[in-house]
Amino acid sequence: MSEPAPLAFQTTPVHPLFGVEVLGCDLRRAGEPDLYAAIRQAFEVSSLLLFRDQHLNDEDHLAFAKLFGPIEDRSNIRMDGAARISGVSNETGDGGVMDEANLRLLDLQANMLWHTDSTFLPVPALANILQARVVPSEGGATEFASTRAGFNGLAPELQERLRSLSFHHRYSHSRARVDPELAKLKRFTMWPDTEWRAVWANPVTGEEALYIASHVFAVSGMQAEEGAALVDELIAAMTQPAAVYVHQWQPGDVLVWDERAVLHRGTPWPYEQPRTLVSVCVSAGEGDGLITMRPGLAA
Ligand SMILES: [Fe+2]
Repeated sequence: MSEPAPLAFQTTPVHPLFGVEVLGCDLRRAGEPDLYAAIRQAFEVSSLLLFRDQHLNDEDHLAFAKLFGPIEDRSNIRMDGAARISGVSNETGDGGVMDEANLRLLDLQANMLWHTDSTFLPVPALANILQARVVPSEGGATEFASTRAGFNGLAPELQERLRSLSFHHRYSHSRARVDPELAKLKRFTMWPDTEWRAVWANPVTGEEALYIASHVFAVSGMQAEEGAALVDELIAAMTQPAAVYVHQWQPGDVLVWDERAVLHRGTPWPYEQPRTLVSVCVSAGEGDGLITMRPGLAA
């Protein structure tokens, strides 16, 4: 093999365990020869990439996301057929902000549980590409924890046990933890339960990560209470304060993270202030390791 080309940009760590800020990169040029390859390599190795001062419009945002793979299709949820850009916002569209009892705001609060996006979909996500448009004067950070670093920190016996387990995921499960009424909405009940193996090995680097989320409602071969206790224990182990990167958003920030190896959660902000992040998720493909994640395969 020839030597890899020098990186097209400089990077600087955002956290000792994972994540880098990519410097001097205009994401509107990310499709140029070699630039995407360098971004993708950094993504595989570092799990989280920060790009500042991007201010991408929807078209640029989608074009950048498509470089990673197919845009996640939640068209069954989005009955309006609109572009597949998801707002993570409390703005109502008429210049106001939502009232705190609004179910959409409860949904935002459910996003404040540690989770991985889209584990409940028939095809889970590879990456989320999230950009800040409007930020509040305080609060509203997004927190991240590497489940690769977290998995590496577990006892070898527990690692070995996890390699043979799988987790069952259900979207309404995480919503029910915030509000039972929220969990009844069709958009949270329409997907059949999914089951994925508990450890996702990155096919490029070979590194293993725990694949877990607030959507996990059962563990293969375990009684409900025992499984729930294991899930809580594992999420707590992954998200110890020293392992967490807290991102305080500035308008124009773009974060890309590897859903196979990172947990995240939102944090509150003064809800009388508007805040809008825009998200595009990309689906995982078989070559991203999905082929190894279906239960029943030999560990
Ligand atoms: Fe999320």
